[in-house]
Amino acid sequence: MALPRAGGRKRLAGGSRLADCSAIAVSLAENPRRMPTSSLISYAHVGKTFDGGRGANRVVAVDDVSLDVAEGEFLAVVGGSGSGKTTLLRLANRLIDADEGHITVEGEDVRNVDPIGLRRRIGYVFQSGGLFPHLSVAGNIGITPKLLGWPADEIAARVDELVDLVRLDRAQHRDRLPHELSGGQRQRVGVARALAAKPRIVLMDEPFGALDPLTRDALGDDYRELHRRLGLTTVMITHDMTEAMLLADRIAIMRGGRLLAQGTPAELSDSSDAYVGELLRTPRRQAERLGALLPRDGAA
Ligand SMILES: Nc1ncnc2c1ncn2[C@@H]1O[C@H](COP(=O)(O)OP(=O)(O)OP(=O)(O)O)[C@@H](O)[C@H]1O
Ligand SMILES: [Mg+2]
Repeated sequence: MALPRAGGRKRLAGGSRLADCSAIAVSLAENPRRMPTSSLISYAHVGKTFDGGRGANRVVAVDDVSLDVAEGEFLAVVGGSGSGKTTLLRLANRLIDADEGHITVEGEDVRNVDPIGLRRRIGYVFQSGGLFPHLSVAGNIGITPKLLGWPADEIAARVDELVDLVRLDRAQHRDRLPHELSGGQRQRVGVARALAAKPRIVLMDEPFGALDPLTRDALGDDYRELHRRLGLTTVMITHDMTEAMLLADRIAIMRGGRLLAQGTPAELSDSSDAYVGELLRTPRRQAERLGALLPRDGAA
């Protein structure tokens, strides 16, 4: 079940940057506390350390993180480069294993679950896109159903459905190779592939990071709508606090492997942590400056 989105749609008519700014201000001021229902993903005191390589110190990538993601929730994970965001995500579907603590997915400790089976029921959008270069769009989208042994006609029907869902064109794009697509189209294929086996959970690692602002806005909006319509539980990593505020129900902030804070934008704005305050001030400052520069009700 998708959680209701507080304050209605955050993006206003026309989707203009000015509207976005107003939406951020509304979000900061009015987003009320939501109580999670049941946790679909739960991290309890999780730690992960990497060998830093020859002669280098060990790297504590994730340090005593406890975090619950409720069913139907859209959680954004924000933090600087190297703060442990990707590591946190990869721990959930056992691309890597934790050294300390416990992670449960859909109530099961992931250590007791077959990692391949786990990965096939969690959609994952990779930081770099991660499409198979030698497979067509249809081949990429259908790969997990194929690995799960779906019949060919069901895979073909699912691919068509997903091509439509992520708003690509069947006739134009279905048989192209990834290098024959634009960056935005490749990201749409990445999202479609993550959704192919009808997962309840989708993990996205900076899915829209490398895109121009308009494409990024459009894809973010489209994904948010899919999240709602399909009743997904989504964890999305982003560097961009504005994107996090506009798309997510709640935001988790990482720094140096630690979870500094988590909550709705309104809750985070109460945080006494200086780094959290700095992250939150940026979109607010941008919103105020743009609000002053742009005409109030003209075409911004
Ligand atoms: N396989 C690995 N071996 C050694 N160190 C690693 C490995 N994976 C990650 N690290 C280190 O762990 C830390 C956290 O990395 P991680 O990829 O989780 O950061 P991130 O927050 O996703 O950064 P970015 O925003 O740049 O993607 C970094 O210092 C990184 O160098
Ligand atoms: Mg990363």
